[in-house]
Amino acid sequence: MQPKTLTDFRTTFGKDVYKGFTDHPKHISSKYFYDERGDRLFQEIMDMPTYYLTRSEYAILEQHKEAICEHFIGDGDPFNLIELGAGDGKKTKILLRQLSGHGAPFTYQPVDISGNVLRQLEQSIRRELPGVSVKTNEGTYFETLDLLNDSSRQRKVLLFLGSNIGNLLHPQAVAFMKAIQQLMKADDSLLIGFDQKKHPQKILDAYNDPEGITAAFNKNLLLRINREFGGDFDPDNFLHWEVYDPESGTAKSYLVAKIKHQVWIKDLDLRVSFEAWESIHTEISQKYDDATVAWLAGKAGLRIIEQYADPDHEYKNYLFKKNGDESNME
Ligand code: AVI
Repeated sequence: MQPKTLTDFRTTFGKDVYKGFTDHPKHISSKYFYDERGDRLFQEIMDMPTYYLTRSEYAILEQHKEAICEHFIGDGDPFNLIELGAGDGKKTKILLRQLSGHGAPFTYQPVDISGNVLRQLEQSIRRELPGVSVKTNEGTYFETLDLLNDSSRQRKVLLFLGSNIGNLLHPQAVAFMKAIQQLMKADDSLLIGFDQKKHPQKILDAYNDPEGITAAFNKNLLLRINREFGGDFDPDNFLHWEVYDPESGTAKSYLVAKIKHQVWIKDLDLRVSFEAWESIHTEISQKYDDATVAWLAGKAGLRIIEQYADPDHEYKNYLFKKNGDESNME
């Protein structure tokens, strides 16, 4: 049989699964968590008592909505409010309500990898905020960046909430912020949520709940591969395992094989062997401090205009503009 080349695959997901399971050590990107079941499990995670991130950002937006929206409204000219990785939009609705209460002329453009989530979001906005004009866009963050390159020349306000940036390694986060920066004009702005370094136990607890919801979310990757590529993973053969490095601020999720076994993924013509205690790396959830965010901004050619924190300074939203001086950029 000819060795398989990566071009044999019909989807990027298939290609990434093949690559991730033939690499050493094994890995699969967390961007594939979000099918219909994954979306549902993430909703449950956001409601968990230990998953503080959503509540912290909600509290920040609630407390600072006036100041934030003043920045967004600027001189009062029309703008597009583009949200990357919009999810259920629960936190964004605080800002949408505030903006429409001020009669601000804007179009809300949520972007998400999950069409399912976008449909639900659009319906809920039409129901709860009928005055807000919505235009949804399905795709990955990088795929949809050309949205920012639109011909309308309307001012852009960009949102990247929920510490979604934390699911990118630093070089990817810099590349992403730089790609956004290059499409921004001087009067455009960007609001990003960054989860902060804190007591390591609090971080571990957020990603290792006793109910096992995060474990089910992580293992859903295996079930998704079974569903979409005819795999025969038994999720009970794996443990969900979380580690946090307080020095780098990186939380990492793994699936760890409990026994030596093999898995067959029919549609990819791939047999995967696991040794007992072999890992699959599935996600990073980076935690930040001011110095790291300032470093990222400098590398990306952005400057921090404002920062909004929760009372315990455990989570922060930073407002960026394009930096006139790009001498520090990579
Ligand atoms: C979407 N993202 C910011 C979440 C996080 O905190 O990294 C995904 C998540 N993974 C496990 N729990 C939540």
